[in-house]
Amino acid sequence: MTFSAIIVAAGSGERAGAGEPKQWRALAGRPVARWSLEAFQAAGARRVVVVVSANGADEAVRAFAGLSGWLLVQGGATRADSVKAGLAALGPGADEIVLIHDAARPFLTNQHILALIAALGGTDGAAPALPVTDTLKARSASGAVTTAPRDSLWRAQTPQAFHLGVISAAYDAWAPGEAPTDDLAVVERAGGRIALTRGDPMLFKLTYPEDFVMAEQLARPQRVIRIGQGFDVHRFGEGDGVWLCGVKIAHNHSLIGHSDADVGLHALTDALLGAIGEGDIGDHFPPTDPRWKGADSTVFLRHAAALIAARDGVINNVDVTLICEAPKIKPHRQAMRERLAELLSLNVDQVSVKATTTEQLGFTGRGEGLAAQAAVSISVPG
Ligand code: CTP
Ligand code: MG
Repeated sequence: MTFSAIIVAAGSGERAGAGEPKQWRALAGRPVARWSLEAFQAAGARRVVVVVSANGADEAVRAFAGLSGWLLVQGGATRADSVKAGLAALGPGADEIVLIHDAARPFLTNQHILALIAALGGTDGAAPALPVTDTLKARSASGAVTTAPRDSLWRAQTPQAFHLGVISAAYDAWAPGEAPTDDLAVVERAGGRIALTRGDPMLFKLTYPEDFVMAEQLARPQRVIRIGQGFDVHRFGEGDGVWLCGVKIAHNHSLIGHSDADVGLHALTDALLGAIGEGDIGDHFPPTDPRWKGADSTVFLRHAAALIAARDGVINNVDVTLICEAPKIKPHRQAMRERLAELLSLNVDQVSVKATTTEQLGFTGRGEGLAAQAAVSISVPG
């Protein structure tokens, strides 16, 4: 079904507070009005007229950079004046379907558009509407508050769909001096048949500053939680201390390895790599490479964290378990948590370090080596 669209974007957005008019502000990186233009174009609009204020043309050109197939016209003092300017730009075209939409309602979808066009059918005007669910209060000039019935009340949204000939004639017949707040009202006054379709809370209008806070949250790309786990073991050998989770602890042995043998950091690095499917620590830092001989394992951890950050990922929490009979971990746990938090730019409460023995069983029980396991949770764009 062919249709054209008018996007009214000539308001000054007084209620949205200081700054750029709301329709040109960025919402998740895209100007508010651009969201609707892209939706109409994706739905196959034949023509899209964007109505802007006398000084809105530059902002529109910037906001619509890279898009084609739109036409700018200058609006008027009221929304109705702006709609009339848009209708005049479309010209005659009696049967052509036109959808009139507020630029300030960015979350327009293909489904909204298709449902409206279908609902227009044999009627003269169709619009999405939501039943009023809050209790309505009326306050008189004297301050007296009463409750108003809400049973038959609906909140009309946009886009609103019409046949071009019908809406143009209805506006021509509208008495000057009185401004309708939507386009359906104009067709109602002219005696037209109206269809209300199911409204959608997502079609809310950005009106007040707090609406932008909600819109940003809704526009934010979905994120998914991922988990990763890692495990590592190093053998004890001669020495006077061990590196664990980036902290040096005095001990009657050291851990033997190609790097500094920090099993805690190695298990944690593997867990982080695992969460993003990036192989393991050996893939990134081959033990055959002399560069990593005696290396400070914080380099490995920072590398894994950087790979997550490069995917716009965020670490939710990390949890490391050290498995040994000695040295005693507990006195150093807090220092380890703080060190890991520093290395990963986390709060200490996002970092857990635990320790356990294996009841003198197995290689850790016999004091031949020290094992570590780690689990992490991260969130990444879905
Ligand atoms: N609009 C318009 N021409 C006007 C007034 C409003 O094209 N003279 C458009 C707005 O740009 C908006 C839509 O009509 O996309 C709905 O109006 P509203 O939410 O009231 O926007 P503003 O008038 O800009 O805001 P405010 O009333 O807070 O000043
Ligand atoms: Mg207004």
